[in-house]
Formats: sequence, structure tokens, C-alpha cells
Amino acid sequence: MFLLALTLLCVQLLCGAAGAWAGGPWGAAAGVALGSWLYWLWQGWRGLRVLAWLRQQGEPPVLHGVRGLWGEALDRTRRLLRQHERHVAASDARLQAFLQALQASPNGVILLDARGQIEWCNQTAAEHFGLDAERDLMQSIGNLLRAPEFSAYLAAGDFRQDVQLTGSASTSTHPVRLSVHLHPYGEGRRLMLSRDITQVEQADAMRRDFVANVSHEIRTPLTVLAGFVETLQTLPLEEDERARYLALMAQQAQRMQHLVQDLLTLSRLEGSALPGLDNWTDVRQLLARCEQEARTLSAQVTPAGAPPQRLTFPTAQQLAQCGALAGNPEELHSALSNLIGNAVRYTPAGGSISVDWQCLPDGGARFAVRDSGPGIAPEHLPRLTERFYRVDRSRSRDSGGTGLGLAIVKHSLQRHGATLQIRSVLGQGSEFSALFPARRVRGAAASEKV
Ligand SMILES: Nc1ncnc2c1ncn2[C@@H]1O[C@H](COP(=O)(O)OP(=O)(O)OP(=O)(O)O)[C@@H](O)[C@H]1O
Ligand SMILES: [Mg+2]
Repeated sequence: MFLLALTLLCVQLLCGAAGAWAGGPWGAAAGVALGSWLYWLWQGWRGLRVLAWLRQQGEPPVLHGVRGLWGEALDRTRRLLRQHERHVAASDARLQAFLQALQASPNGVILLDARGQIEWCNQTAAEHFGLDAERDLMQSIGNLLRAPEFSAYLAAGDFRQDVQLTGSASTSTHPVRLSVHLHPYGEGRRLMLSRDITQVEQADAMRRDFVANVSHEIRTPLTVLAGFVETLQTLPLEEDERARYLALMAQQAQRMQHLVQDLLTLSRLEGSALPGLDNWTDVRQLLARCEQEARTLSAQVTPAGAPPQRLTFPTAQQLAQCGALAGNPEELHSALSNLIGNAVRYTPAGGSISVDWQCLPDGGARFAVRDSGPGIAPEHLPRLTERFYRVDRSRSRDSGGTGLGLAIVKHSLQRHGATLQIRSVLGQGSEFSALFPARRVRGAAASEKV
């Protein structure tokens, strides 16, 4: 301010002096007036330049020659503008970081404005609802999601609970279920979260089915047992009749025992650590044990007078090259003997059962059980390893089966990195094989005894 007044005074003095020299006292007065006028004109012109710059947008130019009051105003404005730009850039970076975090969320996230239009949505939400994250921006969510449950949820306006919908990618073979929850925030805005609950729902259904199946499996022999107990208590029976009833009761008790044993095996398989690679089992010994059990079972299931089943097992030479398996010996025995046991149980008298052990070119090995039994229709094959699944319920029950055998086999094999393959032709027989990976197979000579 002081500089401004000093400059004005200097200009007035100079012009006054020039006026006095040219025209006496009147000339001096005219010079002072002209100097003042010229000074304010100059200031006005500088002000106009600053105003012109303030009106334009973009990077502030450096205005040469604009100093003093206007120059300082210009500098301060420029500094404020830069500060503002830095602030906007930082806010933008923060917003992008937030959006990236929401994008990385495993759940679907949609931001809705007060009119229910999509302001932003992440890729997961786009996949859940079949949206296009860019094309559908500012579209009304009510128009895009037409599921009646969602429309009712949106209309009711009570967002304390979630709503469950079918995902857009859902098919009859791969159902997708979603949990959708709206959370109001800001001024009428809503945050819409979606979560894939397909597996949770499937696990719930499996648990319910499992409990229902176990109860059913236990109830049947229990009912029979209770019936016999009542008969024994109420009726005076002959000794041989009594003995027959007791034998039937023992059979039912054995069935329940078998079921509990299988359930315990399954839960042990699910809960224990994976079998390591340092415990080697001799396949010759493993198959010798399976063979002994199979022959005993075959003799038990063959009716008196009927032709015996023909059982073939690999020779010691066939087992020499890749005759050692790494893993848990009991689990391996349970898997292989279950497969052989099924072949023996489901093949009629006089049929043939052949067990094979083959070394594979990739270093792995293949175990196979082929039988000339009834075979299995193709529609049952994908479901055979489900718990309690039986092709012929009454037949399986008659043979003492619980329907858990193949579930145990699949689980045990999976834990050893092996895969179960089932080939069967109705009326011709079946082949169940297990493919063991190279890392779990080696020559028998190097194996340790079980
Ligand atoms: N070799 C086979 N030939 C024909 N059907 C078979 C054969 N193996 C299995 N099945 C069918 O598959 C079903 C499931 O077999 P799985 O071993 O899981 O149960 P299970 O034999 O009934 O009972 P468990 O083995 O628990 O005593 C059987 O009920 C049977 O119908
Ligand atoms: Mg079985």
C-alpha cells in the first residue's frame, strides 16, 4: 500500500514538475492531474489483464510486467489454485484407492443414489446380476433386477434383513444363490452388498440330507430289533425259533455297527492330516490281504450249491516293478478292499472278478477291479460316490451295504492324489479303477514292509 502511494506521489511530482516548467502554476496543476489519470489508467490496464487471466481456465500464465499490487494478487491466486489442484488430485487418488478396494472385495458392491440408480458397481456385482459395470451406470436397479423377491424387498423398504435371489449365471446343473442386503446411508443413498451363498446353502442341504439319511439308516434296523425284542418278551417261543430270532437280531445289530464304523471312518478321513510321502506300503502285501478277504467274502455270499465266483489277482512278478505306494496303509487298504468287496457282493455266483495292477508310462500306477456283474446304468454313475447313494436300495441293504463304501473310497483316494474312474455297461459288468500319481509310486524292491 505504501509502495502504491509512493509510486502515485512520484508520478504526480514528475508530471507536476514537467507542467510547472512548461506552463507555470496552472501547468503544474494540470501535470499533477494528468499524472494521476495516467497512473490509474495503467493500474486499470493491469487489472484488466489479471481479470482476463482469472476468467480463462487451465494452467495460470506468467504475466510479464504485472508486478506490485496486481502482481501479488496474481501470485497469491496462482498459489491458491495450485494448492486446490493438489488437494483435488489427492482426493481423487483417495477415491480411486477406495474404489479399487471395493473392486477387490469378494462380495458384490453397488452404490445407489437417492433415486435407486446405479452410481458405481464392482465387477463381482456385475457378474452376480449380469450387469455391465459401465453401460448400466445411472440405470435404475429396480428396472435391471426383475426378480419378484428383490422387487418386493425394494418396495417394502425394510432393509434389516437380507433377501435371497438366484444369480444371473445360475443353471439347472450349476445353481447360483445370492444373499443381497441393502444398507441406507447419506441422503437417501443405499449400499447394496451381494454374497454368493451357493456353497453355504449346498452345505446346509448336505447336512440336512446327511442327518436324515443316518436317522433313516439307523431307524430301520432299530425298528426290526425292537420288533424282535417285543416278540421275545411277549410270545412263548420254541428254542430253535428263539435262536433264529436272536440270529436275526444279531444281524441287525451288526448292520448298525457297520454303519457307525463307516461314519467314523468318513469323519476320520475328513478330519486328519493328508498322508505323507514317506510311508511306503508294499502292494503285494496289500493285495494279498485284500485277496484273502475277497475269497472269504465270496464264499460267504455264494449260496450253497451255486457255482463259485472266479477271482483273479495279479502275480508277484506283475507287482514287482511299481509295487510300492506312499500313503496311509489302512486308508489304502480300505479303498482297494471296498472296490473288490463291491465286485464280489454285486456279481452273481459263477461270475468272474479280476483285479489288475499296472505300471503307467508316466511313473504312476493303475489299480482296477473288473467284474461280470449286473453293471450300472449310466444315469447312476455320476452319483455313485455320494454318501448313502445306492443303485438298488433293497439289494444293497440285503447284502449289508450302507451306501457309504464308495464315498470312503473316493475320499481315501483323493487324499492320496489318486482319481477314481468308473466304467460300467448295464448287463455286462463294471470296472472300477484308481490312478495313482507317479510321486506316490515306486518299485517294490525299495519298499519297506508294512
Ligand atoms: N461292482 C459293482 N457292480 C454293480 N453295482 C455296484 C458295484 N459297486 C457298487 N455298486 C452300486 O453302487 C452302490 C454304492 O456302492 P457303495 O459301495 O457306496 O455302497 P454299498 O455297497 O451299498 O454299501 P457299503 O459299501 O457301504 O457297505 C451300491 O449300492 C451298488 O448299487
Ligand atoms: Mg460297497
